[in-house]
Amino acid sequence: MSRSVLIAANWKLNPNTLKGSQELASGVSEGIKDKKSSKVEVAFCVPAIYLQAIESIIAKSPIKLGGQNLYFEEKGAFTGEISAPMLTDIGAKYVVLGHSERRTLFAETDELISKKAQVSLKHNLIPIVCVGETLEQREKNETDSVIISQLNKSLKSVETNGDNLVIAYEPVWAIGTGKTCSSEEANRVCGLIRQGLAKLYSKEIAEKVLILYGGSVKSNTIKEQMQQSEIDGALVGGASLIVDEFVQLVLNAG
Ligand code: 13P
Repeated sequence: MSRSVLIAANWKLNPNTLKGSQELASGVSEGIKDKKSSKVEVAFCVPAIYLQAIESIIAKSPIKLGGQNLYFEEKGAFTGEISAPMLTDIGAKYVVLGHSERRTLFAETDELISKKAQVSLKHNLIPIVCVGETLEQREKNETDSVIISQLNKSLKSVETNGDNLVIAYEPVWAIGTGKTCSSEEANRVCGLIRQGLAKLYSKEIAEKVLILYGGSVKSNTIKEQMQQSEIDGALVGGASLIVDEFVQLVLNAG
């Protein structure tokens, strides 16, 4: 089966001005216009405060909008949070959930991520659920068990038809370090994730889910990564903040 390709930019806590975020979005949008392969979908997962401004810049383009987090309650007294219906209403298609930075810096658990994924799907948002092992876990040969455990627990009670779920494999030791996981190893783990999805759902559903690789993806790594059978795209941090670099990355992905 040939799946589509998703290149999702995760801007994290950047840029730190509205103007900077608008320049980044319009620069990329202009740069890939009429050039990118129709098979490649691009999404900007932006800080919540910029969602509306970025939505108006990309509204007439094929670029999709995504959030970086949400709270599992739909409304109420939860100061500082944003909800799934708010993200849907503003025009988001995706939401990144369970990023390793949220797991480690904000103590997010698999159980919490599962609740967030459930509410996302309820509101027609596609969760990009992140999993990944630390360097210590890799060195102890725990990679596969950690990935399967995170997958099973984060997707507990999450129902999907396969079209409305994205998984991102992001080895923690490869994030922002310049150390990319070899394409063969990334492919192996993405294959393991697909087997895990087949057990949780069905082989047919697992074949439909897009599995992204993330961790120091650059314009000069993406071609080889996209040649792997189990890698359907990338979740990109640092390289998504530089217009020319991200444009080139998207063009090389197709
Ligand atoms: P880098 O591309 O900066 O390594 O970040 C990866 C990431 O965490 C994307 O979510």
